[in-house]
Amino acid sequence: MHNLDQIIQAATSAFAATDDHAALEQVKAAYLGKSGQITGLLKGLAQLPTDERKTAGAAINRAKEAVESALEERREAIRRKTLARKLAAEALDVTLPGRGQARGGLHPVTRTLERIEALFRSIGFEVADGPEIESDFQNFTALNTPEDHPARSMHDTFYLLDERGEVAPGVLLRTHTSPIQVRYMQAHVARHAGQARMPEIRVIAPGRVYRVDSDATHSPMFHQVEGLWIGENVSFADLKGVIADFLRRFFENDDLRVRFRPSFFPFTEPSAEIDVAFMSGPLEGRWLEIAGCGMVHPNVLRHVAIDPENYIGFAFGMGPDRLTMLRYGVNDLRLFYDGDLRFLRQFI
Ligand code: FA5
Ligand code: MG
Repeated sequence: MHNLDQIIQAATSAFAATDDHAALEQVKAAYLGKSGQITGLLKGLAQLPTDERKTAGAAINRAKEAVESALEERREAIRRKTLARKLAAEALDVTLPGRGQARGGLHPVTRTLERIEALFRSIGFEVADGPEIESDFQNFTALNTPEDHPARSMHDTFYLLDERGEVAPGVLLRTHTSPIQVRYMQAHVARHAGQARMPEIRVIAPGRVYRVDSDATHSPMFHQVEGLWIGENVSFADLKGVIADFLRRFFENDDLRVRFRPSFFPFTEPSAEIDVAFMSGPLEGRWLEIAGCGMVHPNVLRHVAIDPENYIGFAFGMGPDRLTMLRYGVNDLRLFYDGDLRFLRQFI
C-alpha cells in the first residue's frame, strides 16, 4: 500500500504547514472531506472484487485513522501555540511595584472652615450661606455704605460684564460675607412677622469673597466667615467673650495672644479689628489681622425692619485663610492657592 503511505505523509506535512485552525480545517477537507482523497478511496472499494475488498478496506481505514490522528496532533499544537502567543501578549509582570491608592485629603482651608462651623454650632449658632454674585445694593448700600464710599472703587472690587462687554450695572462679586447679615435678618424678620417677640439671631455664614488684592496676606479670592448675634441684650463684652473663647478653642491654646484694635466700618459702631500673634513659623511673634467686628449699626437694623431700640447685637467677619496661616505657621497665604501638592500634602 505504497500509495496510502504517501497520502499519510503528504497529509501530515500539509497539516504541519498550517498555522491556525481555519487553514488546518481547509487542508483537512482535501483528505477527509466529501471529495477528499481518503473519502475517494473508500468510495472506490465498491468497484473492487469481493475478496480484495476486505484487506483494501482495512488498509484504507488504517490510513484514515493515521491522517485523523495527525490532524488531531496538529490541532493540539496550534491550540498550544495560540495560547502561548496570547499569554505573551497579555503578560502581567507581578514583580512590578504596585500602583497604590492615591490618598486624598481636605484642603487646609477647608479643614479650618469645618472646624469653625463645628465650634460655632457647639455654642448654638446656625450656619447660613448666600450668593457670590451679589447686588451692589446688598453688598454696600444695605450695609450703610454710601455710593461715594472708597470700598466701591473699581480697584477694590470685581464687577461683571454684560453681553455687550460693558460693566453690568448693580451686580458684583461680593467683597465680604456681610451682605448675608442683611439677607438673613430679612428672612428672619419675615419668618417671625406677627409674633410679639422676635427670637434671637445667632448665625455664621462661611463663603468665598473677592477683592483686587494680592500679596503675602491677601489673595483675590479668599474666604470669610460672617457672624451675627442679635438679641435684646447682646453687648460688646459678649462679642469679646465669644471671639476670645472661639480663638482659644480653635488654636487649642490658652496662651494665645489676641488684641482688639479700634477701627471703622460703616455698618458697625463701635468697630474693631482683631489681631492674633503667630505662635510658630517664620513670622513667630508678628501680629496678623484676622477679623473685623463691631456692634451692628442702628441704620442696618432699621433697613431690615428691626427696631434698634429693642434689639442690639454684634457682627464679625473673619478670614479663615489667615487663621490657617496662623495655625500652621505659614508665612504666605498664596501658597494655599498655588496648587502645589508638595505644600498641600503636609496638611493631610
Ligand atoms: C470686612 O470685610 C468686614 N465685612 C468685616 C466685618 C463684618 C466688620 C461684620 C464688622 C462687622 P475686612 O476688610 O477687614 O472687613 O476683612 C475681614 C477679614 O477678612 C480680614 O481681617 C482678613 O482676615 C480677611 N481678609 C481681607 N482681605 C483679605 C484678602 N485679600 N485675602 C485674605 N484674607 C483677607
Ligand atoms: Mg480689615
